[in-house]
Amino acid sequence: MKIAMIGSGYVGLVSGACFADFGHTVVCIDKAEAKIAALNRGEIPIFEPGLDALVAENVKAGRLSFTTEFAGPVADADVVFIAVGTPSRRGDGHADLSYVYAAAREIAQSVKGFTVVVTKSTVPVGTGDEVERIMRETRPETDIAVVSNPEFLREGAAISDFKRPDRIVVGIEDERAREVMTEVYRPLYLNQSPLLFTSRRTSELTKYAANAFLAMKITFINEIADLCEKVGADVQEISRGIGLDGRIGGKFLHAGPGYGGSCFPKDALALVKTAQDNDSPVRLIETTIAINDTRKRAMARKVISALNGDVRGKKIAVLGLTFKPETDDMRDAPSISIIQALQDGGAKVFAYDPEGMEASRAMLDNITYGTSPYDIAEGADALVIVTEWNQFRALDFQRLRTIMGRPLVVDLRNVYKPDEVKRHGFAYVGIGRGTSPMVVPVAEAAE
Ligand SMILES: NC(=O)c1ccc[n+]([C@@H]2O[C@H](COP(=O)([O-])OP(=O)(O)OC[C@H]3O[C@@H](n4cnc5c(N)ncnc54)[C@H](O)[C@@H]3O)[C@@H](O)[C@H]2O)c1
Repeated sequence: MKIAMIGSGYVGLVSGACFADFGHTVVCIDKAEAKIAALNRGEIPIFEPGLDALVAENVKAGRLSFTTEFAGPVADADVVFIAVGTPSRRGDGHADLSYVYAAAREIAQSVKGFTVVVTKSTVPVGTGDEVERIMRETRPETDIAVVSNPEFLREGAAISDFKRPDRIVVGIEDERAREVMTEVYRPLYLNQSPLLFTSRRTSELTKYAANAFLAMKITFINEIADLCEKVGADVQEISRGIGLDGRIGGKFLHAGPGYGGSCFPKDALALVKTAQDNDSPVRLIETTIAINDTRKRAMARKVISALNGDVRGKKIAVLGLTFKPETDDMRDAPSISIIQALQDGGAKVFAYDPEGMEASRAMLDNITYGTSPYDIAEGADALVIVTEWNQFRALDFQRLRTIMGRPLVVDLRNVYKPDEVKRHGFAYVGIGRGTSPMVVPVAEAAE
């Protein structure tokens, strides 16, 4: 199949490279000239493990190319994917669909013959109808089928997620698209990945339901973690205790500083807006967002209280800035609110992240960046683990003990066992690892 991929960001570039690897001929198109120029020089504009090799192989094989031009590749394509951004709209939190609609207009001007136009971007229910309307209005004679095919890949594991998805959801309104989409995904289908055909609206809403559920699951365990701290229980053991129940499942039950990233915050909010507009509010998700929003600054307060309530003039070493490991993505990362709250309290923040420092420089002020965990820990009053990069999983605590000003580790990802750290003479604060004695019910205490 000939595929045009509009938008060459985290999703478009990974999807484009993987489709090319399946044997399709793919042209990735982007408005950002610098991005396309870099790709044409063989440079990958984002950090995603394995992507550089995959892109290089498929470019070399002549199946993958990059351009800023729409006309030729779109006219040639059997299938055009829209994978542009859908960020939160400033002011009201609805998904900003201006990039999707602009792409739809441009595609309409160039399509030739029957073409399947697939929205891969995460878009609110009903967007496919509008994309179709815009395209027919722009060029009434176009022969198109507009399809919804949301993407479920995770940054950091994007290639394996794309190549071995739990499921592929495809929403169609025109039966002709079924055959084309089956052909596009044939290699995965043969590999037994379930290909779920639904209506277009069902498919669009499935993506939001999935992300909102995961955001809720994380928020649930975060609240249980807070309770653990009050009653002297361990959230790690509770996660295991409930996660082994097949009805619950162990994934997304890691307590931490709150969810962030380029998807959960904006998608949860957009779902709330859609639900409100349709007089069917999703209160669970409204509450999830409210809890998560306050959690990030609460994490900074955890650091402040571990330093006896005062961080003014203190040096805080922050390990990890990106919203999760194995990506350079800083969008809505918990580190942003945590660092800002620490700075508001007068702390001097030093930070190190294997991939996120460039993006962080553009988003946060007054941080001193270092070259390693030990570089920023020199003389620090606290070491705060914000993102669980693998290289932070085996820190040399003996060395840290000799270079830090004060032996305090605040582990917001529960990377370490408390005793393991305390053994080296550190004070350790984790998430949901209650050490206070169990609250004894009043009646029993009296006996
Ligand atoms: N990042 C993820 O992990 C992830 C996972 C699943 C779904 N999604 C969804 O996929 C979509 C894309 O996300 P992303 O993270 O790849 O975004 P991104 O910001 O990394 O990439 C979007 C790209 O689209 C380009 N673009 C914008 N308008 C364009 C136009 N009219 N023509 C051509 N190019 C245009 C931008 O220059 C940019 O390179 C979003 O809707 C997002 O919610 C993202």
